[in-house]
Amino acid sequence: MELETTVIGVDPYDDGVILRWSDGRRTRLHSLWLRDNCPSGGDRLKAFRTFSVVDLDPDLSVVSGGIGEDGSVEIEYSDGHRSSFDPDWLATHDPEPTRRRSKPRRITPVRAGVELPRVSLPSPRSRGHLELLDAVAEYGAAIVDDVPTEELGTESLAALIGRIRETDFGRIFDIVVEPEVWEFSQTGLALDPHTDDPYRYTPSGTSMLHCVEASTSGGDTLLVDGFAVAASLEEDDPDAFDVLAEVSIPFVRHRTDSVDQGEDVHLVAHAPIISLDRDREIAGVRFHERSMGTLDIDPSMMGPYYRALIEFSRRINDPSAAVQFRIEPGQAVVYDNQRMLHGRTAFGPEGGRRHLRLCTIDRDQFHSRLRRLREDYDRPGVDERLPAGSLS
Ligand SMILES: [Fe+2]
Repeated sequence: MELETTVIGVDPYDDGVILRWSDGRRTRLHSLWLRDNCPSGGDRLKAFRTFSVVDLDPDLSVVSGGIGEDGSVEIEYSDGHRSSFDPDWLATHDPEPTRRRSKPRRITPVRAGVELPRVSLPSPRSRGHLELLDAVAEYGAAIVDDVPTEELGTESLAALIGRIRETDFGRIFDIVVEPEVWEFSQTGLALDPHTDDPYRYTPSGTSMLHCVEASTSGGDTLLVDGFAVAASLEEDDPDAFDVLAEVSIPFVRHRTDSVDQGEDVHLVAHAPIISLDRDREIAGVRFHERSMGTLDIDPSMMGPYYRALIEFSRRINDPSAAVQFRIEPGQAVVYDNQRMLHGRTAFGPEGGRRHLRLCTIDRDQFHSRLRRLREDYDRPGVDERLPAGSLS
């Protein structure tokens, strides 16, 4: 990528150099960072490196720095090594906090009344494919039409995002009312908004519900934007927000019996309900009241924690937070399970059979495909930082 600014000066600075750029900004570069990133060390993006930090002299210093005839930044170190840096590369990797090129992606908060983006099942690597993934990144969810109700249709949609993750629920989970209920979703009861799999170290990423048969009454899908709810809490009650972001709590799933669509498991993960990235931006939400273990936090934190939990839960369950819609046979909803909480309204046998297929793809695959499509279509925003999810 061509950048407009050039380096007009390389001056000594503490443990390295300071670059002066034609637009007036300054960049501090440490001698160890420079030596580690010398282009002679290989290609970091492809993990094709011949240089290792093991070989770095911790006391290395820069003895001279200047600008080459072609505008390159020339550095000589105390160990005699010389580096030549492309200024565009330096601009792209500028570590100054104000210059980090990866800015958080703009998201559109979703609440009752917001129309979710809706697309027809696109063909792989098409512009429509990019539009679908962009929509999910921005709104947290999108509705996809014209998805054939055969299992191949589910597979085709999933393949646009990545490889389906196989878990103890299998690869594709059929949500139907079962006479012998093993899992709560197999009833016709309402499901309160939740994220799936909070009891896993890495919960489900990008999930999809594909409708094969719809109940004629009830069984509407609910989606609640966990990022929007967390942001509203941060604004109104920052102390409650901090408690939910800083205190890890247990999530559990324990079953000793196995069935066709589920194995015996004893999964336990401790994690905060709200995950933040290094800039304290909301990166993930993990919330499923039915899967919370008994709180094992410090007794002195019980009061503040419960008050924060009650407030967050009330906001999640407030009808004004939820988009409610029906998905019909041949439609699917794709959603970010670490941002959007999903639920459903109750339905009864009088509405006929209801059958949804559920599967999930890890969110790093979704983001990887999105970045690649943006590169292919030369779309701006390829460097935007996408929320990494509930990593903690
Ligand atoms: Fe669920």
